[in-house]
Amino acid sequence: MPYAESPTPSTRDRALGVYVHVPFCSVRCGYCDFNTYTADELGEGATRASYADTAIAEIVRSAPGAGGRSAETVFFGGGTPTQLPADDLVRMLAAIDDTIGLADGVEVTTEANPDSVTPESLATLRRGGFNRISFGVQSAVPHVLATLERTHDPANVPQAVRWAREAGFEQVSVDLIYGTPGESMDDWRTSLEQAVALGPDHVSAYALIVEQGTAFARKVRRGEVVMPDDDETADKYLLADELLTGAGLGWYELSNWARDAAAQCRHNVLYWHSDDWFGIGPGAHSHLAGERWWNVKHPAAYAQRLAAGESPRHDGETIDAPTARTERIMLETRLRSGLALSALGPGARSEVAELVDSALVTIVDEHLVLTLTGRLLADAVVRKFIE
Ligand SMILES: C[S@@+](CC[C@H](N)C(=O)[O-])C[C@H]1O[C@@H](n2cnc3c(N)ncnc32)[C@H](O)[C@@H]1O
Ligand code: SF4
Repeated sequence: MPYAESPTPSTRDRALGVYVHVPFCSVRCGYCDFNTYTADELGEGATRASYADTAIAEIVRSAPGAGGRSAETVFFGGGTPTQLPADDLVRMLAAIDDTIGLADGVEVTTEANPDSVTPESLATLRRGGFNRISFGVQSAVPHVLATLERTHDPANVPQAVRWAREAGFEQVSVDLIYGTPGESMDDWRTSLEQAVALGPDHVSAYALIVEQGTAFARKVRRGEVVMPDDDETADKYLLADELLTGAGLGWYELSNWARDAAAQCRHNVLYWHSDDWFGIGPGAHSHLAGERWWNVKHPAAYAQRLAAGESPRHDGETIDAPTARTERIMLETRLRSGLALSALGPGARSEVAELVDSALVTIVDEHLVLTLTGRLLADAVVRKFIE
């Protein structure tokens, strides 16, 4: 079969995104190892009150690197961005607009904990240009939330979603986690049904990852909690796909479902296509024109660098062609739009044929697309093509 040529990410015009990391949380959930700090953990040298100005200093420094391109997407993540006053988030967005520029129709997302928003803060965000919000819901079941050491009150979730709609947010997303120890299939069904009842435009559902160094990993090691086996996790994925699809949310990436193409998270799609983005904030990664670099991790070191008029960059690397190929295969295989066969080259024909024969993939418009069974075995599919 001839392999059609399609432009690679290095030759097509790459979209530009901006990620702003906000490294603050009110409490740390036991399972989470993100670069985020509670008030007690933060220490000296950085404050929440000064964070927006520090990040704005980095935005101003970064802007010339955009090469005249405006941002198609902006994503405030964390941590919990909504731990900062809404006015601070709006000021950072305005600084991006003033320096890098925001493209027409820009998607501007903030992540939020359902307990960290009010009708007023949501209205301020919406007026300031935010149009998408992603709530960390995780589960609707109290004993599951307790195992995760989540402190938000599940009763606040419908209210937070209603407030976001009333404030005029066009896109509302919810994050769910499955596979928490002690979570039954019925528990997971309840969480999915309640998520669907919120009428979201988008749902992300990730299997719980045991991150080394977290309080949760210590509990697993001590045998206080037992992680489910792979079969149970696979059954939960299938239930998620069935219920979300039944509610009109189609998968567009292994762990992400959207009401329609317009409801897909364009910022994440930009990552998955290895486009370009600035990462603003402590520990944030940037990826531009074949280079990747990352900032110093601690908010105090980050603030110190910028206060001294220095770059917060810690280290970086040039992405060589084999690395770019591997990353493209790993990311685009997870997408419903699939991986262009041209990215694999003619040398992979027999592996592709084997995967088609085993019903793990189908070929659609010269792209390799995972079947439902293939989605459960995506890592094994990817391993066929990378050393
Ligand atoms: C920055 S948080 C979202 C906003 C807010 N901090 C919250 O949790 O509500 C991003 C997402 O990562 C998920 N996450 C963090 N650690 C995880 C883990 N170990 N396994 C699976 N998902 C994880 C969280 O549950 C959350 O939905
Ligand atoms: S899951 Fe969200 S709220 Fe919990 S510690 Fe991580 S970033 Fe903070």
